[in-house]
Amino acid sequence: METIVVKTGEGQAGEQAVLRAGQIIRRGGLVAFPTETVYGLGGDACNPGSARRIYAAKGRPSDNPLIVHICRWEDIYKIADPVPEAAHKLAEAFWPGPLTIILKKTDFVPMETTGGLDTVAVRFPADRTALALIEAAGGFVAAPSANVSGRPSPTLARYVQEDMDGRIEMILDGGEVGIGLESTIVDLTGEKPMILRPGFVTKEMLEEVLGRVDVDKTILDKNSRLRPKAPGMRYRHYAPKGELTIVEGEAGTAARAICQKSREAKRAGEKVGIIATQETKALYLAQSMADSIKSVGNRSDEAAVGRSLYRILREFDDEGMTVIFSESFSDSGFGQAIMNRLFKAAGHRVEMV
Ligand code: TXA
Ligand code: MG
Repeated sequence: METIVVKTGEGQAGEQAVLRAGQIIRRGGLVAFPTETVYGLGGDACNPGSARRIYAAKGRPSDNPLIVHICRWEDIYKIADPVPEAAHKLAEAFWPGPLTIILKKTDFVPMETTGGLDTVAVRFPADRTALALIEAAGGFVAAPSANVSGRPSPTLARYVQEDMDGRIEMILDGGEVGIGLESTIVDLTGEKPMILRPGFVTKEMLEEVLGRVDVDKTILDKNSRLRPKAPGMRYRHYAPKGELTIVEGEAGTAARAICQKSREAKRAGEKVGIIATQETKALYLAQSMADSIKSVGNRSDEAAVGRSLYRILREFDDEGMTVIFSESFSDSGFGQAIMNRLFKAAGHRVEMV
């Protein structure tokens, strides 16, 4: 299969491309598209065959449920029942936006889409291309992140192409995404709201709207043996090919320890990459002997760190790094999402200094 790549954006050509993409999805095909978080791999959420094709294209286990994307609030009633008061409040505060809500599903959603669960993940994204595509596709688009299972989620159409070329009908190229990490997932089917995956909408933001919110304990536990509640969080995700270690400690101490570890790894013949910050980059350039040093941005600028993390992990893969070191970041606010993805990428390899 040949995968067509089309740039979206303003103008008729972009609109035409989105309409064509909608047709493809209605007919059971797959189209990758930008959202404000990461690129999604979209298929018709009401078509069991589309779900099966999504799992095959990603190489993803079919018991890992897909998120259903909508473009109108009312459509939630077709796929979820009941729709509790808390869902109304969250929608009012954060939709359209980077938040996914888990609710009990209706029969409208096939079991193939929800990986056999009787609950459904619902997301109303903010990205304009995403919204136009969902509309053109009939209103219900099942979409996991558009990466091959086990690779970082794509933040650029180029990365979607790397993973999905020849496996899907079309890629809508809307440039670099804004947030760079997947949506926050909050489960409203239990006694208390629970965060299953941290994201740009933070615990604090959710608590302002809902009162107390629990967090799935496995999310930030460095050595967790517990089973995460979101099936997808159980797999080793976001894994770079090189062995990533997070070095945790006071920033200056951690940076000096990384320099030393990097020199040792170089002596052992490894190709070393370092995830640096603006504050520490110069030190690494002078002292680490690392092959590749990439800054995620200013340590205090969490939005920048979130946006560049997956791109840097992919670049290290492309450059053939065999060992990667990263500083750790604050785990409050959006930092919780950043550290959660870093821990997973590191397979929970953390060294305290
Ligand atoms: O930002 C995002 O959410 C992106 C964009 C494309 O919208 N999508 C995304 O989808 O990250 P995916 O499939 O890569 O991650 C969905 C996560 C998985 O961990 C999955 O197990 C969980 O959501 N999930 C989906 N439905 C669920 C359900 N009914 N109950 C619990 N977890 C669910
Ligand atoms: Mg994913």
